[in-house]
Amino acid sequence: MKRAVGIDLGTTFSSITIVNADNVAHPIPNAEGMFTTPSVALWRDGRFIVGQPALDSVQAASGEERERLTGALIRGVKRMMGRPPAGGLVSNGYRTDPIEVSAAILAKLVHDASLLLGFPVRDAVITGPAHFGDRERSATKAAAERAGLRVLQMINEPSAAALTYTHGQQVEPGAALVFDLGGGTFDATVLQLGTQGSRVLATKGIEELGGINFTNALATFLRRRYEMETKTAYPNDSAAYDQLVNVAEAAKCRLSAAQSTRVMLAPPHSVPLEFEVTRKQFEGLIGLLLLQLQVVVEQTLERAHKTPSDIQRVLLCGGSSRIPSVQEMLKRFFSRLPETTLDLDLSVALGAAYQAAAYAEVQREEPGQNGKRQDALQHAPALQLLAEAGLVIDCVSYPVGIAVKNARGESVKLVMLRPGDALNAWSQPVPVRILGSTATFPPVDVYAGDGTQLLAKDYLGQISLALPPGTPSGAHATVMMRQDGSGLVQIQINLAGRDLPGNLQRI
Ligand SMILES: Nc1ncnc2c1ncn2[C@@H]1O[C@H](COP(=O)(O)OP(=O)(O)OP(=O)(O)O)[C@@H](O)[C@H]1O
Ligand SMILES: [Mg+2]
Repeated sequence: MKRAVGIDLGTTFSSITIVNADNVAHPIPNAEGMFTTPSVALWRDGRFIVGQPALDSVQAASGEERERLTGALIRGVKRMMGRPPAGGLVSNGYRTDPIEVSAAILAKLVHDASLLLGFPVRDAVITGPAHFGDRERSATKAAAERAGLRVLQMINEPSAAALTYTHGQQVEPGAALVFDLGGGTFDATVLQLGTQGSRVLATKGIEELGGINFTNALATFLRRRYEMETKTAYPNDSAAYDQLVNVAEAAKCRLSAAQSTRVMLAPPHSVPLEFEVTRKQFEGLIGLLLLQLQVVVEQTLERAHKTPSDIQRVLLCGGSSRIPSVQEMLKRFFSRLPETTLDLDLSVALGAAYQAAAYAEVQREEPGQNGKRQDALQHAPALQLLAEAGLVIDCVSYPVGIAVKNARGESVKLVMLRPGDALNAWSQPVPVRILGSTATFPPVDVYAGDGTQLLAKDYLGQISLALPPGTPSGAHATVMMRQDGSGLVQIQINLAGRDLPGNLQRI
């Protein structure tokens, strides 16, 4: 059995997987016997309770205690990774942050898996949305490390799903689109599938579009209907809101299978009301969301220089791709039915296990020097090995660059890495002059964005480097950048013929 695991740290559900002796990836059940763990956490008695036990402890409470615990339950923390909420995060009076909460979720997955597997889980490949930038990726890695994990690599969720799709089958070479609509995020990725591994051509996504938005649209509709029919305001407390969202969530899922469904709203201390909701009504509420999804698909194809007819397979993944009108939109757009061969809930996590197992294999073949582990993904022969193992070679998915002075002395943002560029490949060098203090590298501002241009809001931090003693004022240096196998920004400075690793001080 390969000892490294795959982990899908999802907005609503997370899972952990491993490749067994049969060379097939399997999900590992948690202590509750489930393959997926709700990504929720509740601070209680000096520690975080995670997953179903957290939900159960809210359910078991009543009255004011229930109201208090409902408000204390932390959900959807993935959307806050790298961007902690301004007012901070508090659970039951405990002040925390998104990294600590994600670490608690990962720690539960790892703890439960270690018990079941009979050895301590340490090495993992973790998935994240393809559109995650450096900030979100760094925060995810920090959370994993805080949970005691060694991150072999972070891979993009659609790429992991593609890996599950191609594993163990002779895929016909051709272009495929992975349409990954989960609970909180959306990614569209175009890949060239091949027998010698697959290559990502382009990827694009929306960080805040997923099942939560579909549920919220229905919840707003249900609340209005309740207020119209009962002529009373829907109560404005956490427990009533929680009930509304739970009812909307369940109704949304039923409407993927049925044309209509009955809902019952019974907020505490208020009039109960039961009524019918139809799929047509739901579809009327989500038109704009569907349009946003379609626009991103179009933009991804454009980036990949493909037309809809070039795409031979549309692969669905993520729980929200079960929504019939999402599938119909894709069918209209591509004039073909999307394939539903992938396990919508687990394919991402399973792909991470394949990558973890292959990674372990590569490290066996390419031992590091002096017994030190080496980053296999930074070495061409190792990359080749991964490709031969039928894996997915990803690309840069967000632009990165630095601010430089133009001829008129104005500061302009120069894009050095563009979406579609190869991972691990250094950018062209950009000249920088050392003026003033010669002890530290001149402050160089780094930007990482999500469009084609870098904007002020994309500010990521500064390059820092202690200069070798004796560096003269006026010395010339160059800056190069790359994204490593996990999509994290790395910097290299060349000064007087010497390569020096630059440090990126993220704000
Ligand atoms: N039958 C269904 N119809 C509609 N939506 C569904 C159905 N089943 C599950 N979902 C939605 O799928 C979402 C969960 O999907 P998934 O587990 O893929 O997301 P995630 O991995 O937690 O999120 P992300 O990948 O965005 O971080 C939830 O929002 C859920 O409501
Ligand atoms: Mg997911």
